[in-house]
Amino acid sequence: MVTGATGSIGTHLVRRLRQDGAAFRALVRDESKGRALGCDFAVGDFEDPGSIAAALDGVDRLFLNSAGALPVDGAQPMIRQQKTAIDAAHRAGVTHVVKVSVWHARQGAKLSQGAHWEIEEHLKASGLSWSLLQPAGYMQNFLGAGAFTPDGHLISSYADSPVAYIDCPDIAACAAALLTRPHGENETFILTGPQALTDADLAGQISAALRRTVTCVETPPDALATALKSQGLPPWFADDLAVLVKEVAAGSQATTTTAVHDLTRRPPRTFEDFLTAHLPALRALTASSAPA
Ligand SMILES: NC(=O)c1ccc[n+]([C@@H]2O[C@H](COP(=O)([O-])OP(=O)(O)OC[C@H]3O[C@@H](n4cnc5c(N)ncnc54)[C@H](OP(=O)(O)O)[C@@H]3O)[C@@H](O)[C@H]2O)c1
Repeated sequence: MVTGATGSIGTHLVRRLRQDGAAFRALVRDESKGRALGCDFAVGDFEDPGSIAAALDGVDRLFLNSAGALPVDGAQPMIRQQKTAIDAAHRAGVTHVVKVSVWHARQGAKLSQGAHWEIEEHLKASGLSWSLLQPAGYMQNFLGAGAFTPDGHLISSYADSPVAYIDCPDIAACAAALLTRPHGENETFILTGPQALTDADLAGQISAALRRTVTCVETPPDALATALKSQGLPPWFADDLAVLVKEVAAGSQATTTTAVHDLTRRPPRTFEDFLTAHLPALRALTASSAPA
């Protein structure tokens, strides 16, 4: 069963499993989204454990992914939701779980890194076999409003430090390999793109793709936190996010790994590939900027 089936990884995983002729079911919250996927689906919500238990009937392998670590009432619902899903999977007779985590998940870390570590530990103690995918930052983050200024320039918080961004279809391809071939049991895979790129590199490539100059607007981590607080995000969340951004700015995602190639037998997609695939969306997102 594929959870997060309508998300940035899940949609590609569903497409790939269909192409491969694998028997699978997608979990969706919204029936119309399930119909649009064009595969077997079950309607369920991580907030409704009974619906997850019902959806898991007959399932042997589970792809576990859900929305990120945005807080609700000061807590990250992802932790409770995924732990509950792991317990339900165990009860349903699932044998293997492929979970999307995050690079540098570790005890005591802030936000998603700490949250994923807690879920990883729960999974490892569950008695199920597991594979952990620990991706670098997603290229898809550049399709979100927070990546650009209102006038279409790149918000730059990592200074000169390169980041080995990964394209979500590559994460999906790794998950498909682990779900359909019996290997990678109880292993952790750090997934990166083929190159680590600085914000200046990214701005250069985006400029070339859009055929106009996109500059870097320096927004150091503490300034980013201040801006997020002024937009209404809880202060503790904005401050914790600044800590994570500082780690990346210090080079925590500056290296590449061979894991995508090892698992899929082909190289990971480049940022240029990503820009080509998403040019209309990127153009719309940055449209308010006058050509330089
Ligand atoms: N962004 C990054 O750079 C990055 C890097 C490393 C790791 N990660 C991790 O990647 C994961 C995915 O993050 P994302 O923001 O990219 O999410 P996403 O995959 O784009 O979307 C989340 C998916 O989860 C589903 N979902 C959300 N709440 C649910 C619920 N209560 N019950 C059932 N399904 C639910 C959504 O379904 P609907 O269609 O119904 O909303 C959607 O399919 C997070 O754990 C994050 O920590 C992100």
